[in-house]
Amino acid sequence: MTIRLCVFDAYGTLFDVDGAARSAASGPNGQALAEVWPQLSASWRRKQLEYTWLRAAAGHHANFAQVTEDALDWALEDAGIAGAELRARLLALYQELPVFTEVPDTLRALAGQGISRAILSNGTPDMLASAVRAAGLDDMFQAVLSVEDVGVFKPATAVYDMVGARFGVSPQEVLFISSNGWDICAGAAYGFRTLWVNRGAAPMDRLFGRPDAVVRDLRGLLAQLEE
Ligand code: LAC
Repeated sequence: MTIRLCVFDAYGTLFDVDGAARSAASGPNGQALAEVWPQLSASWRRKQLEYTWLRAAAGHHANFAQVTEDALDWALEDAGIAGAELRARLLALYQELPVFTEVPDTLRALAGQGISRAILSNGTPDMLASAVRAAGLDDMFQAVLSVEDVGVFKPATAVYDMVGARFGVSPQEVLFISSNGWDICAGAAYGFRTLWVNRGAAPMDRLFGRPDAVVRDLRGLLAQLEE
């Protein structure tokens, strides 16, 4: 495929969203999470995404930092966990999520081949800048595009329009890369070439659009570009 630009989703694709609860469980005041952090993390993520879809559908936008806080509050209450310090710690850790181990090498390899790289994410500019900085990836992207510029969450097409508007490329020249099956379906329907990073071996979403290719992690990306 002739690809000029690789566009990455952020949360779950580059950054490990389970990292906050995992790290909090082993840190100060983390006892409450010791047994339950995987369930808490999954419920936090699920609620966070639900809130983005519901807010987009209803036309009631709030930024992703607010949605992330709201979802955490719901998940903590659902799990019967209280504690302002723990809540604050989880939110602080979310600002510096760990990057998946293969990401830096993959980005360097793309740079070496002259392929441009961008992030397109629900995250706020501040959240994304913080995560990119913490991962040491500051000089790896030509653009970090936040939905805050259009005021609506994925999968609204206004979000995917940001790529062409910024780079002047057609959708067919873009490889859109996400670990979120629904994001990939929407990107494919939009006209992007798509690579689903199916880290969790999830079933394919029954939605509009199908990925061009599926990999387990980003080590498969360069091979896909050669096909
Ligand atoms: C993002 C979420 C969907 O980064 O993972 O946009």
